[in-house]
Amino acid sequence: MPKAYVFTRNGGPEVEALIEQDVPAPGPGELLVAVRAAGVNPVDWKLRTGYTRPGSEPQPFPTVFGSEAAGVVEGVGPDVEGFAVGDEVFGNPVTGGYAEYTLLPAAVTAHKPAELSFTDAAVLPVAVATAYDGVRQLGLAPGSTLLITGAGGGVGTAAVQLARHAGIHVIGTASAAKKDFIESLGAVHVESGAGLADRVRAAAPDGIDAVFDLVGGDTLRAVAPLLTDPATLISAGGKPLAVELGGAAVVRARTAAVLDEVANLVVTGALRTYVTGTFPLAEAGQALRAVESGHARGKIVIEAIA
Ligand SMILES: NC(=O)c1ccc[n+]([C@@H]2O[C@H](COP(=O)([O-])OP(=O)(O)OC[C@H]3O[C@@H](n4cnc5c(N)ncnc54)[C@H](OP(=O)(O)O)[C@@H]3O)[C@@H](O)[C@H]2O)c1
Repeated sequence: MPKAYVFTRNGGPEVEALIEQDVPAPGPGELLVAVRAAGVNPVDWKLRTGYTRPGSEPQPFPTVFGSEAAGVVEGVGPDVEGFAVGDEVFGNPVTGGYAEYTLLPAAVTAHKPAELSFTDAAVLPVAVATAYDGVRQLGLAPGSTLLITGAGGGVGTAAVQLARHAGIHVIGTASAAKKDFIESLGAVHVESGAGLADRVRAAAPDGIDAVFDLVGGDTLRAVAPLLTDPATLISAGGKPLAVELGGAAVVRARTAAVLDEVANLVVTGALRTYVTGTFPLAEAGQALRAVESGHARGKIVIEAIA
C-alpha cells in the first residue's frame, strides 16, 4: 500500500506517523497524482498543532501533511477538462502532499513546464505564489524601497527576487548567519532582533515605502511605525496584528494563472527557487523539524515520493 506522512491528532512531533493508506479516488474536478516532490511549509506543522485555516473545516485524522506538491497525473475525476493521465502537474493538494498519491483540484492546478524539475515546481504553489501575490498587491513603482522581514525564508527568498526584478530597492531582515545569502539575492541585509527599527532607519535614511512582513509578532511591531502610511504594510506571517497596525494580510490569488506565471519566471531565469534541503518521505519528520525551527534557508522539499 502507498505511504503517507500524517498527524494522528493535534499535538507536537510525537503525533506524527508514516502510515499506509489506500490510493485516494479522484472526485469531481480532481486529479489523482503520483507525487514526485512536496514542499514543506510552516503551515504544515501549524495545522498539526491545531491551527485551522480561516474559513476551512479541520480535516479528519489521520491528516496527511503538505500544502503543495508536484507529480504525474494517474487518474482524472469527473468534470475535469484540460488534463490527462501522464501529465506533469503542480498545485495545492486536497488530501496532503507528503504522500505517494494525492488529489489535486484541477481548477487551480498547473501543467509543469518540461524545463522545470518536480522539486522546483513543488515549492511554487505556497511560498513562491505568496511572494508573488504580496509583491503584486503592494504595486510599488521601480525605485521604491521595500522592507521584507524574514527575507531568507521560503516566502522571503522569492519576495526579494521578485521585488528586485521589478526594480524595487529591498532591505531584508534576517539573522546574521544569512547576511551573505540576503546580499546574494540583491537586498541590503539588516540583522533581525532587538534594535531592528534603528538599524532599518540607518540602512534607509530616506525612509521605506512599504513592508512585506513574514515574521509577525515583535518584528512586525518594531517595523510598522517606520511607515508614514500604514496601508503599505502587508503580512503573511501575522495577519491579525498587521490589521491592528493599519495594514493588511497578503491576499492569495490561488489561481492556475499565477502558478503558470511563477513557473515561467523560474524557467526564464528571473527567479530561483533555492531548495536548500531535500528529504525522502520516510524522513519527512526531519524535513518538518528543519522548517519548524523557524530558521530554514530558502525551501525544504520531500522528494521522489512515488
Ligand atoms: N497566508 C499565506 O497564504 C501564507 C503562505 C505562506 C507562508 N505564510 C506564513 O508566512 C510566514 C513565513 O513563511 P515562510 O515559508 O517564509 O517561513 P520560513 O521559511 O520559516 O521563514 C521565516 C523566516 O523568518 C525568520 N524568523 C523566524 N523567527 C523569527 C523571529 N523570532 N524573529 C525574526 N525573524 C524570525 C527566519 O529567519 P532567520 O533564520 O534569519 O531568523 C526565517 O527565515 C509563516 O508564518 C507562514 O505560515 C502564509
